[in-house]
Amino acid sequence: MNAELEKYIQNTSSYFEEKYSGAPTLVAYAPGRINIIGEHTDYNLGLSMPAAINRWVIVCLRPRPDQVISVTSQNYHDKMEYTLGQPFTPADSWEKYVYGCITIFGNQYKLNQGFEAVIWGNVPIGSGVSSSAAIEVALMNALRAAYAADMDDLTLVKMCQRVEHEYLKVNSGLLDQYASQFSREGKLMILDFNQLSSDYVDADMKEWAWILADTKVKRELAGSKYSERVRETADALKEIKSKDSSVQGFRDLTEKHLSLISDPVQQKRIRHLVLENQRVLKAAEALSQKNFEELGALLTASHQSLRDDYEVSCPELDFLVDAALQLPYCAGSRMMGGGFGGCTISLVRKDAVHKFSNFLTDEYAREYDIVTEINNYQLVDGAGSYKL
Ligand code: GLA
Repeated sequence: MNAELEKYIQNTSSYFEEKYSGAPTLVAYAPGRINIIGEHTDYNLGLSMPAAINRWVIVCLRPRPDQVISVTSQNYHDKMEYTLGQPFTPADSWEKYVYGCITIFGNQYKLNQGFEAVIWGNVPIGSGVSSSAAIEVALMNALRAAYAADMDDLTLVKMCQRVEHEYLKVNSGLLDQYASQFSREGKLMILDFNQLSSDYVDADMKEWAWILADTKVKRELAGSKYSERVRETADALKEIKSKDSSVQGFRDLTEKHLSLISDPVQQKRIRHLVLENQRVLKAAEALSQKNFEELGALLTASHQSLRDDYEVSCPELDFLVDAALQLPYCAGSRMMGGGFGGCTISLVRKDAVHKFSNFLTDEYAREYDIVTEINNYQLVDGAGSYKL
């Protein structure tokens, strides 16, 4: 097990002992994720290239003999408590995740007793590295282990996705939860949302590194605009299907179908989807050939498409990408995740990471008076759980 993770588990477990007197009986953990390329493709059954990072949510849990559920957030120093079968209204958003997971799990697998748990995490919130999926996946893994539920990993991530849909009211795809559950140390995943399957490729980047820069901008529009994109692309597919009977689903679409879409905005959305899927395949090829200049160019093309065709970027993200692209040791850069804030991901020469970070930090502070945070994450294994 990752040594850093082990240390965090020990801390969370000690905190549990303080709060609930006595040791937890099991622990579950789930990482955040990055996504190299393939953005806003998951809910349209496309392709992506994510990997889990060394930032986690940890759940320490112990069953209770009664019907009480008591969950403490170590980060927020806040506790939610309710009795199974009694009405409960989650107040904060962390409570919505927790209550959503427990309720969806409980509807499937009858909960005959309660539990107490502590949740702790260091996945940055609102940075586009999927802190919310990490909570869901960690807690769902804890529940599966605690109630010895016969549930495979794919069912588990789909149940986590339902939490987003039903409790957070965001119709997100499976990218975040899938990456959090299925990632492997040192690997990138080529994830096919149509098949719901993944291939793993070696993430050895030779003299290059993936560097994230955080805009620190809250993703306020993210929820509503996200749902708008889901609707726009679904409507466009419906229109294409009505005009071309050979089209069954998103993956049958090619550039030649764009002219069948009457709304020019929807046409741009589908163009992003079709070309982004092609870019994922080209990126996998470039990676296998260790052609990092090509890989970088694909990242930058992805950003242009997300900015101009899919319209999910924002001035701060564009600024960080443009600043990165001024530097000769940066092969490419793009916004990462849902957009409207969060962070960028850039492909940077390892020996220039320090210079890169300083340049971006200075430029961004000058323009926005905000201190960006630069990160170079390790790629780690996906979620897990074990008895203590
Ligand atoms: C968010 C969503 C994901 C995915 C990305 C964009 O992270 O939660 O499902 O759609 O945006 O690729």
